[in-house]
Amino acid sequence: MKPVVHLVVDYVREEERLLRRSLGAWAEVHVVNLREDPVPIGGAVADAAVIRPVSMYRAAYAAGAYEASGSFTVNTSEAIIYSGDKALTYARLAAANIASPATLIASSEEAALRAAEETGYPVVVKPPVGSWGRLVSKARSPEKLAQVARLRSALPCTPQRVMLIQPLLETGGSDIRCIVVAGQLLGCMRRRASRPGEWRSNVALGARVEAHRPSPEEEDAAIRAARAVNGYFVSIDLFETRDGPLVNEVNGVPEFKGFIRATGVNPAEALSKALRESLRR
Ligand SMILES: Nc1ncnc2c1ncn2[C@@H]1O[C@H](COP(=O)(O)OP(=O)(O)OP(=O)(O)O)[C@@H](O)[C@H]1O
Ligand SMILES: [Mg+2]
Repeated sequence: MKPVVHLVVDYVREEERLLRRSLGAWAEVHVVNLREDPVPIGGAVADAAVIRPVSMYRAAYAAGAYEASGSFTVNTSEAIIYSGDKALTYARLAAANIASPATLIASSEEAALRAAEETGYPVVVKPPVGSWGRLVSKARSPEKLAQVARLRSALPCTPQRVMLIQPLLETGGSDIRCIVVAGQLLGCMRRRASRPGEWRSNVALGARVEAHRPSPEEEDAAIRAARAVNGYFVSIDLFETRDGPLVNEVNGVPEFKGFIRATGVNPAEALSKALRESLRR
């Protein structure tokens, strides 16, 4: 009998279509769409669950529900929570001695201004939970930072109101995205901001992508960062600095359309192969 794999989604993107096709080569795949299907906490009958919701909390709750049934879950709720929240990611990275941008957590305008005195201006202000560069701002002065802090304080939930304050690194609008599957580096691409005036390298903000051959330090940082959050299938974003790579973030539900375009490598195939091996053990 074929293993049963639940592909848990909220929206079906190109990534989910590719995963369904790759997994379907050896598994009986059921698509569970959280916008229609309830998920029991415990008692789901799946050998494995591949967790793909766009919403971090939906993803984490679904992962927890499948873990409760003993399904092999990619990723686990732990990995999704720790990678989905940048404050928690940076904490895990620091605990594992993995270099990341200097970061202070500020929960008020006053705390933000004091944090920026430590990092020096300009600073980057970002929420712990967010995607596609949304709410990632820079401030060159205390006046601008106070203005950002006031706008943030009006947002509805704490993971958006809290501010992570970092020095603005000279990245030239570029970073390196790596994908790690089951402890192995699958490959890397460079993302380069390309819209006029845009400094953030998110593909959602128009960044261009190209294949990147990782240095041994980059490979090591990516694999260790994946391990730090217990990620089975994760993307890792690195900033290049004179002192080596800094891990900017880990994503526990990685998008990979741009990665395929840049590298010609299909992460859905790689994940499917690794998962099949893991289930055999
Ligand atoms: N400290 C920093 N210095 C320079 N540039 C930064 C810094 N932090 C973020 N950036 C730029 O802003 C972009 C968005 O920031 P970040 O990756 O932290 O959040 P996000 O992209 O919204 O989150 P996600 O990647 O999970 O969708 C980064 O890809 C990078 O190009
Ligand atoms: Mg990012």
